[in-house]
Order: sequence, then C-alpha cells, then structure tokens
Amino acid sequence: MSPEDFSYVADLVRTEAGVVLTSDKVFFLDTRLGPLARREKEAGVDALIARLRSQPTASRIQAVVEAALVPETRFFRNRSAFQTLADLSLPELVKRRGDKGLRILSAGCSSGQEAYSLAILVQESLPQTPTEIVAIDYSRRSLEKARAGLYSHFEVQRGLPIRRLLDNFEKVDENWRASAALRSKIVWSEANLLSDLSGLGQFDVILCRNVLNSFAPAVATACLERLEGRLAADGLLMLGVDEGLILPASFKPEAASGLYRRNVAFVREVKMA
Ligand SMILES: C[S@@+](CC[C@H](N)C(=O)[O-])C[C@H]1O[C@@H](n2cnc3c(N)ncnc32)[C@H](O)[C@@H]1O
Repeated sequence: MSPEDFSYVADLVRTEAGVVLTSDKVFFLDTRLGPLARREKEAGVDALIARLRSQPTASRIQAVVEAALVPETRFFRNRSAFQTLADLSLPELVKRRGDKGLRILSAGCSSGQEAYSLAILVQESLPQTPTEIVAIDYSRRSLEKARAGLYSHFEVQRGLPIRRLLDNFEKVDENWRASAALRSKIVWSEANLLSDLSGLGQFDVILCRNVLNSFAPAVATACLERLEGRLAADGLLMLGVDEGLILPASFKPEAASGLYRRNVAFVREVKMA
C-alpha cells in the first residue's frame, strides 16, 4: 500500500469513526483490507482503494472503515469489574429503581461477547428485574455476528466458564449459539459514537470499553461527554481497565478497576437542577 493510500484511508477512518491509525499500522491495514478486497472481487487492496477514491459511495466508505476497526473482544473481559457489577452495583441500583427495571448500554459492542456477558449476569443475579441491554457498534459485520449469537469453540473458551456455557448456549454443529432467553434481552443497533446518541434514551449503566483508547484525546473526551448525557445521575460507567485517565472530573472510581460513578456533589447538583 502506498503512503498516499494509507493516509487517504487513515483520514477516512479518523473522520468517520474517530479511530486514529498511526503510520506504523500500514501492515495492519493491508491485512484488514485484504478480505474485503476479495469479497468485493477487486484485484487486491490497491485496486479496492483506487475504486474507493474514484467512487467514494457511502457503502464503500462504511465497508472500508469498519474493516479497519479492531474487533478484539471476549466474554467477561475484566472479570473483577463484572463481578462487582453483579454483587454490589446492580443490586443497589435495582433497589433504587424498584419495578422500573434497568437499562444498560454496551457501546462499541463488537461481536457481542460483552452484551451477552451482561445478559448472563442479569439472568443469574437479577432474574426478576426487567432489563433491557442495548448494544451499539459502527461495524455492520460485527453486529450481524452479534445478533446471530453464534460463536466458535475458540471464542467461547475465551472467558466463558463451562457452567455458564452449558447454561446459556446450545451446541449447533461445531459452534455454540446463545439461548433465545439471552438473545431476547439485547437490542442491537448500528450507531456511531461520534454522532448524537440522544435517540438511545437514558441508561443506568454504560459500558464503553477498549474503544475510546483508539480515539484522539479530544475526540474521546467529547464522546465521553455525550455518553455522560445518556447516563442516569446515579448511574455507573464502565471503561476498559487502563482508560481512567481520560475521565471527566465528574466521575470517581468505584470498587473495581474500570468502574466509575458520579461524584456525590455532582449527583446533588443534578438532583437540585
Ligand atoms: C476493541 S473492540 C472492544 C469491544 C468490547 N467493548 C470489549 O471491550 O471487549 C472496539 C469496538 O469499537 C467499535 N468502534 C470503534 N469506533 C466506533 C465508533 N465511532 N462508533 C461505534 N463503534 C465504534 C469497533 O467497531 C469495535 O467493535
């Protein structure tokens, strides 16, 4: 891939999705675009980019940008934060909400492992609480896989203990499919974290993990502010373990790493407003 082509695609990925591809990512990008070039029946990555440059249709842009995003994920990533959520944070929120139930957002859900982990937690620890999990991502291909709920043996081995696997998944040929009960708890939706998220409504818990660390700092901050606008005053924010530095001052860390709630002073301000 020529340096000009790399810059062209990197600019597109940054303006479209916020993700920064540094100049050492040429090989990464080439590898990621190869399968897309084959699916599009182009002669190779260079031909794919030439076509994009001459005919930059919305669907071509979307396909190239989503191919450049890193979908890395696994079940119960950062297990201790999930455990704190189940043992302390969710029961406490449920007590305050009563019959209203909970809404949880998985922002940047990739192929769904994070949202299914949440659905398992809710099923195990709050079976009587009506809960809606909304899971959003830029990538249509990731969402397609997430919606199908079908995972390879390798994928379920990454984070799912055998008991949880057998309780919540059924074997389909060589793969495992999330149960209908689990799938019914999750609403999947294509959404860009750079855009207005107000149509999603309000949430009691927002997970946005291992997404913002690939954004430029100012873009990540603006995105966090938009997410904060979607969070209930006493709600919880869950970031990736090493993402705390970019957090707005209105949040303070909770017991487990990666988990935050608003400062009491801030909550008081919101209540009084
Ligand atoms: C590394 S994965 C993290 C998945 C999951 N949250 C986790 O921690 O395991 C990052 C995800 O963020 C998504 N993403 C990146 N930029 C986005 C944007 N602007 N809007 C929505 N999703 C985005 C990618 O498509 C990818 O699925």
